[in-house]
Amino acid sequence: MELTATVSMAMAMAAILAVFVLRSIFPPRGRRKVLNLPPGPRGWPVIGSLGVLAGALPPHRVLAALATRYGPLMHLRLGSYHVVVASSAETARLVLKTHDHALADRPLTTAGEISSYGYQGIVHTPYGAYWRMARKLCATELFSARRVGSFERVRAEEMRALVRGLFRCAGSAVAVREHVSGATLRNILCMAVGEKWSGCYGSAEGEALRRTLDEAFAVTGAVSNVGEWVPWLGWLDLQGCSRRMKRLIELHDRFYEKIVDEHEERRRRAGTGDGEFVASDLVDVLLQLTEEDSHRPESETKLTRVSVKAFIQDIIAGGTESSAVTTEWAMSELLRHPDAMAAATAELDCRWVTERDLPDLPYIDAVVKETLRLHPVGPLLVPHYAREHTVIAGYDVPAGARVLVNVWAIARDPASWPDAPDAFRPERRFDVRGAHFELLPFGAGRRICPAYDLAMKLVAAGEANMVQGFAWRLPDGVKQEDVSMEEHVGLSTKRKVPFVAVAEPRLPVHLYDASD
Ligand code: HEM
Repeated sequence: MELTATVSMAMAMAAILAVFVLRSIFPPRGRRKVLNLPPGPRGWPVIGSLGVLAGALPPHRVLAALATRYGPLMHLRLGSYHVVVASSAETARLVLKTHDHALADRPLTTAGEISSYGYQGIVHTPYGAYWRMARKLCATELFSARRVGSFERVRAEEMRALVRGLFRCAGSAVAVREHVSGATLRNILCMAVGEKWSGCYGSAEGEALRRTLDEAFAVTGAVSNVGEWVPWLGWLDLQGCSRRMKRLIELHDRFYEKIVDEHEERRRRAGTGDGEFVASDLVDVLLQLTEEDSHRPESETKLTRVSVKAFIQDIIAGGTESSAVTTEWAMSELLRHPDAMAAATAELDCRWVTERDLPDLPYIDAVVKETLRLHPVGPLLVPHYAREHTVIAGYDVPAGARVLVNVWAIARDPASWPDAPDAFRPERRFDVRGAHFELLPFGAGRRICPAYDLAMKLVAAGEANMVQGFAWRLPDGVKQEDVSMEEHVGLSTKRKVPFVAVAEPRLPVHLYDASD
């Protein structure tokens, strides 16, 4: 009797499962709307093609390989969502220019919800009035030429500190990224939250911040977070991504609270004195704007203390990793290409390069651009989202679809780059600021990176100073062909193995002292 009941129960369960699976493959006729989706792999019920992205290869490489089979506009089902991938200059133009208005939104994500204080920053914020206000602030206040220029002295000091740090390690093998990330983090912290806070780098608190930033980048970039793609499994948090994000934002928030308190206190003190308060970093600028805004009636676009923290979080997270990763790739390419290293060195003389010299250093500029072509930090950009049903190149892109642009594949597409697309050749000259769809390391259109000028300055000045101050070589016993160029698996393309090289000072010793 008991056995019969168990068998019946098992059969009932199997029937329910079968109905569920069949329905996900063949939806009931009345509800089925025939969509002319772009071609793509069929995928499995429930998970779709999520499995192909969970392997050892980075997602941009898997998607590039699939695009050679299915074409430059491809459709996949990832978990519960339609995903459309553009993999040619032409389809990128359609996504980021022709249909930019419909596709400039962002999907709702755990990272946006947890790490960006409920979408109050810039990167994860959906298209709408708040995001437009944020972008306006980026253009007029945070990354305007005047503001970026006003921090030139700070960046110059950090360059000197980078050179001094390398000089102290002269002759021994150094992990390039350790030095460069230290310099970019201090640079961005100085600009965003002030000199006092950038000084905590090197202290236990600063080190903790850097480690948590690295971890935050890894966890928000985890493509294989199942809960992100199959929302009804989200509550299980199978890989613990939400738990990690919550722990990290708690750590960061303590840091940001202290920073905002300290800035407010300084503003109060200045208010009681005679002198006019002068904003010295982006928190000052944002708090000033928040105060001006406080007289406005409640509205969706009102700046608050939480907005200040979310903006700073995005600026620190977006600005630090990206520039350091690019500089590390550039150094590894230069050491694998001695001719390019020689050409870059020949451009530099005995006076330390400053940002003002950069327009006269076309080869250094070309090295940075060629590095961004081969190793774009965001190889699929940040996912875009279709706000409305859109027809692209005759195919349906349903409202709610995630839209990826495989800028990594586009930058190596033989159709756009017929001359050895995988080779590092800085002699190629091109623009990277979103006007040419063959090369889009900063994206294009409404969501283009708002800080690309600052980013180019950070990377080019770092590169120039490192090449100018040191003769670089690989550690003893390491040959050029031994240098791994493998990428870490995630949404960014940092190196899988840290790049290690030996820096020998090449200028008179007193010049390194003069860098103090
Ligand atoms: C080499 C350095 C950098 C690269 C390659 C880079 C690349 C990108 C890319 C590809 C996007 C997404 C574009 C899209 O979704 O279509 C982006 C967005 C963004 N970047 Fe950068 N970036 C760099 C440096 C920086 C720096 C230094 C900052 C700030 C200090 C920054 C702040 C941002 C912000 C706030 C966004 C979000 C824009 C939005 O969603 O509206 N980035 N960046």
